[in-house]
Amino acid sequence: MIIFLAGASGLVGSAVARAAARRGHSVTGTVGSFAGRIEGLETQLTVDLADEGATTGAVLDAFPEAIVNCAAVSVPEQSEANPALAQTLNVALPTLLARLAHHVSARFVHLSSEQVFDGTPTRPYTSSDTPAPINLYGRQKLASERAVHAAAAEFAVTLRVPLLMGNSATGRRSNHERLFADWAAGRTPRLFVDEYRQPCTAENLAEVIVELCERQDVGLFHWAGTDLLSRHELGVQIREHFKLSERQAPLEAVTRASQPEVMRKRQACLALDIAPLTGMLKTRPQSMAEQLEELHVPPPCRGWYSAQS
Ligand SMILES: NC(=O)c1ccc[n+]([C@@H]2O[C@H](COP(=O)([O-])OP(=O)(O)OC[C@H]3O[C@@H](n4cnc5c(N)ncnc54)[C@H](OP(=O)(O)O)[C@@H]3O)[C@@H](O)[C@H]2O)c1
Repeated sequence: MIIFLAGASGLVGSAVARAAARRGHSVTGTVGSFAGRIEGLETQLTVDLADEGATTGAVLDAFPEAIVNCAAVSVPEQSEANPALAQTLNVALPTLLARLAHHVSARFVHLSSEQVFDGTPTRPYTSSDTPAPINLYGRQKLASERAVHAAAAEFAVTLRVPLLMGNSATGRRSNHERLFADWAAGRTPRLFVDEYRQPCTAENLAEVIVELCERQDVGLFHWAGTDLLSRHELGVQIREHFKLSERQAPLEAVTRASQPEVMRKRQACLALDIAPLTGMLKTRPQSMAEQLEELHVPPPCRGWYSAQS
């Protein structure tokens, strides 16, 4: 299958490129500012995805059977810092890609976020629960879902995904990579003991995305790992997995109540019901122990890490 992958240099995009190549697909992938090579791409294009004409040209040249959208302004604080750019990447781009998917009759797999919810669930959120975003990023992701399914109802599948673990192409993107960057720079990450997430790895999510390219399902689904844990507990498990001591890899435990300003835009608990998708797919959701086994020491922090032993 010919797959057009927007955002191939990102945490999820680079994992999708590898997973799709392993399963015998031919992938044309876009990068923006990333200068290196992405493993698994048959064709690597540098495209400004904020440029509608350039994006349209790249998709039509590839004439794909599936389009996967992993491009975004994916950090909520960056959406707040540059709302216009974030609107273009998080809403206008997926809308355009959905229209193009409809135009060429291609499957379209789009990524949304757990952050469409307000974080006060009485049970894990299902995909039919009413979204209520509390920050700009969440509002943009919700707007993207609606626009994508309006433009390509018969071709589109949207996955709402959680906080992501995994190994990125830059070594600076995922949860453990950010912790390592702080430790290597002598900083102490401050992690909430009462903010709960249900992480999965980009690599596991990539398997789901490629499987969905190969299937005919359309609609909105949730994907995550099997374990719900606090951000602080996650940090502790990462530290222990890499056999670092509290002195080498300090973590400051903070409560939401101590950060009232931050709390307004951050959800307390984002548990996701993933049963509909786990019932359909061969890919299995992973426990935290399985996810930890997949993590590498981030390349930018290898020198610091080897100096610790
Ligand atoms: N990471 C998470 O914890 C998380 C959680 C929930 C949902 N999600 C969603 O999952 C999806 C993938 O996230 P991710 O973490 O893999 O994102 P990421 O690592 O930040 O990657 C973003 C990608 O978008 C590309 N991009 C951004 N602006 C561009 C532009 N103007 N022109 C060309 N390319 C551009 C980047 O290219 P360059 O780097 O080459 O410029 C990169 O390939 C997103 O939809 C995100 O909202 C992520």
